[in-house]
Amino acid sequence: MISTGIQTAAYLFASILFILSLGGLSSQESAKRGVLYGIVGMAIAILSTVLGAGVNGHSYIIIALAIASVIGLIVARKVEMTSMPQLVAILHSFVGLAAVLVGFGSYLDAHTQTLIGSEHTIHLVEVFIGVFIGAITFTGSIIAWGKLDGKITSRALAYKGRHAVNITLVVVSIVLGVRFAMAPETSGLIDLLIMTAIASFIGIMLVMAIGGADMPVVVSMLNSYSGWAAAAAGFMLGNDLLIVTGALVGSSGAILSIIMCEAMNRSFISVIFGGFGNASTGEAKEIEGEVTSANHVEVAEMLKEAQTVIIVPGYGMAVAKAQYPVFELVQKLKADGKTVRFGIHPVAGRLPGHMNVLLAEANVPYDIVLEMDEINDDLPKTDIVLVIGANDIVNPAALEDEGSPIYGMPVIEVWNAKKVIVMKRSMAAGYAGIENPLFYKDNTDMLYGDAKMSVDELNKAL
Ligand code: TAP
Repeated sequence: MISTGIQTAAYLFASILFILSLGGLSSQESAKRGVLYGIVGMAIAILSTVLGAGVNGHSYIIIALAIASVIGLIVARKVEMTSMPQLVAILHSFVGLAAVLVGFGSYLDAHTQTLIGSEHTIHLVEVFIGVFIGAITFTGSIIAWGKLDGKITSRALAYKGRHAVNITLVVVSIVLGVRFAMAPETSGLIDLLIMTAIASFIGIMLVMAIGGADMPVVVSMLNSYSGWAAAAAGFMLGNDLLIVTGALVGSSGAILSIIMCEAMNRSFISVIFGGFGNASTGEAKEIEGEVTSANHVEVAEMLKEAQTVIIVPGYGMAVAKAQYPVFELVQKLKADGKTVRFGIHPVAGRLPGHMNVLLAEANVPYDIVLEMDEINDDLPKTDIVLVIGANDIVNPAALEDEGSPIYGMPVIEVWNAKKVIVMKRSMAAGYAGIENPLFYKDNTDMLYGDAKMSVDELNKAL
């Protein structure tokens, strides 16, 4: 058992570690340190809570912790990099469910009944809001998981008047909330239960209404919701650390969502209210030109001639696990005196930072990994661009074709380089499911095949 003073100090220390952790995660060089701060902070948080006053049944807690740790370890070891968004989505659902359970537990707790006057009302409002956010997060995250995992259709399920239905449901929830806050003892339980059902339904409908291409923003939004759900649980339990942590997750998730919305040219407001993912504005333009292809030997020759090379990786590089041979290729080209850099789109792959993580895994030095905004101006001066398993993020239709569903999304303007080689298996579309006029441009050649196999062949030919 530790005293309240020690617990408060431990909470403060853990809060600082969480802030340092988020700070560390903002750059690749310090990311590992950031993760470590997070782990230590969480260990301190759990220990000081479990050892705090008023906590009984330690043996149960230890058993629960042990089981959960084993499950967590197995899942984290097994999960493929490409399935990470699904994992994140399902983890958010746990936070939502936890907030709902804490809400019900806290409402039925005998201690609640000892509160009087405004203190009692405030606590009931905390419970109600916490359960509301938690239930939306819970069901919304499960739907997001299902969509990302292909278990539920990724098409947007939108029906007429759904915003009116959602608003009506929120108004009904507010009315239930007022009744709940005024109900004596635990007689408001039925209102709480009805609201939980309504909020669960809102969560399902909000995410069902969003098309697959916008799922990453939804996951990030749910991340933010899960933070607010945790903060609400913190208020219910009177736990300052949970409030701070929840607020950190809630606000950082919201900031990430805004950044992603900008990168995908989506309106942040429409994300929060759901159903924004099917915004095609009309007929896509007819594509002109012919597709030309090259083989490994020809591309290797082009690379030998080039002085400046930019590599733009995408989801296909992750699928093929081509990052290791790609780094080998970079080393070969650099040894030959060429300038080689990477251009990373903010939503390349399937989760924020996907490409950065893969390149870091293969030990690619950070100083040659540049962001879209840093690389776009250099493209006209570049001899050759290798597009490795990327598609939507290099689609010129985003800038040129007002009828395209991705019109307005910032993209890496690879076609401005002297030569573009697109490495993918076929002419198949990418995540957004649309054609790419880049493949038809005069200065583009396709190099067909699995990305890892193609890069291996290039390495051999070089
Ligand atoms: P995509 O547009 O999805 O294109 C990937 C391309 O990789 C496909 O056209 C596919 O063509 C190719 N490919 C697949 N497996 C391959 C393999 N083994 N070897 C070689 N090529 C392979 O990817 P992107 O350009 O990275 O764009 C990302 C898209 O995902 C965007 O639309 C974005 O909005 C969306 N999204 C992003 C995120 C985040 S946060 N990053 C999350 C979810 C969705 P073939 O089949 O012809 O090989």
